[in-house]
Amino acid sequence: MSETTTETQNKGETMLLKGKKAVIFGVANKRSIAWAIAQSLASQGAQIAFTFQGERIEKNVRDLADTLEGSQVLPCDVTNDDEIKAVFDELKNSFGQIDILVHCVAFAKKEDLETDFVSTSRDGFHLAHDISAYSLTAISKHAVPLMTEGGSIVALTYLGSVAVVPRYNVMGVAKAALEASIRYLASDLGAKNIRVNGISAGPINTLAARGISGFTEMLKVVREKAPLKRNTEASEVGDTALFLASNLSRGITGNILYVDSGYSIMGM
Ligand SMILES: NC(=O)c1ccc[n+]([C@@H]2O[C@H](COP(=O)([O-])OP(=O)(O)OC[C@H]3O[C@@H](n4cnc5c(N)ncnc54)[C@H](O)[C@@H]3O)[C@@H](O)[C@H]2O)c1
Repeated sequence: MSETTTETQNKGETMLLKGKKAVIFGVANKRSIAWAIAQSLASQGAQIAFTFQGERIEKNVRDLADTLEGSQVLPCDVTNDDEIKAVFDELKNSFGQIDILVHCVAFAKKEDLETDFVSTSRDGFHLAHDISAYSLTAISKHAVPLMTEGGSIVALTYLGSVAVVPRYNVMGVAKAALEASIRYLASDLGAKNIRVNGISAGPINTLAARGISGFTEMLKVVREKAPLKRNTEASEVGDTALFLASNLSRGITGNILYVDSGYSIMGM
């Protein structure tokens, strides 16, 4: 038996992420996919730092973080380079080094998710791309110097990047940019043993998802047509992120894994 196989076939004593340090962007509340990911990572021993955007959700995030031992909470609006720098300066002091970076951040103007894509404003296009796509590069740039022993970067994406999903509109275009960024980052960072992957999740009822008009219909279509005949659960995404964060996925980088009850394989 090889050494790595022995490591994974442990007697339940060794946790997959024991001693690993993670920073997670994008918890808003207990329904957030980022929170499900945090729970999966923490269940296997990771110590977690959370960032939050805006005072409005700070208490939610602090209350959730308090349930995980050794966690910390830092403010960060990803459109602000100074705030991003401050997060990683702080993590350099507290964690020293980091192993896992999770990006679960997206935003588009409500009006751009209600009409036809052709009506998208220049401003709306720019904002969606800044927050939902460029931010991955912006935070990776600061995370990399702290990933001194290699690392895993995971970002959340959606099918609307590769196929038209009505009313997903500019978010689909931003997710296409995010997925291309994942590939370019994977190519840049592979030599440092830093892997970069995406998870394309099926629709899940969260704060961000409820901003997409017709979201309930999206859930229904997946339940009817997906091979597994059910909607995606946030915990399924959490466990896939755990796999991507752990040594079990050491040969995978630049990839998009679909966690969508199989919906994306269907032609009709
Ligand atoms: N819910 C779904 O159906 C679904 C499916 C596939 C992919 N995703 C993706 O999963 C990720 C997480 O979304 P979610 O569904 O858990 O919703 P959510 O609303 O819980 O999370 C979105 C997060 O983005 C953060 N955010 C928005 N603007 C920001 C900014 N300027 N700076 C910092 N943070 C900012 C919000 O504070 C929030 O925490 C997103 O990338 C989303 O596109 C969601």
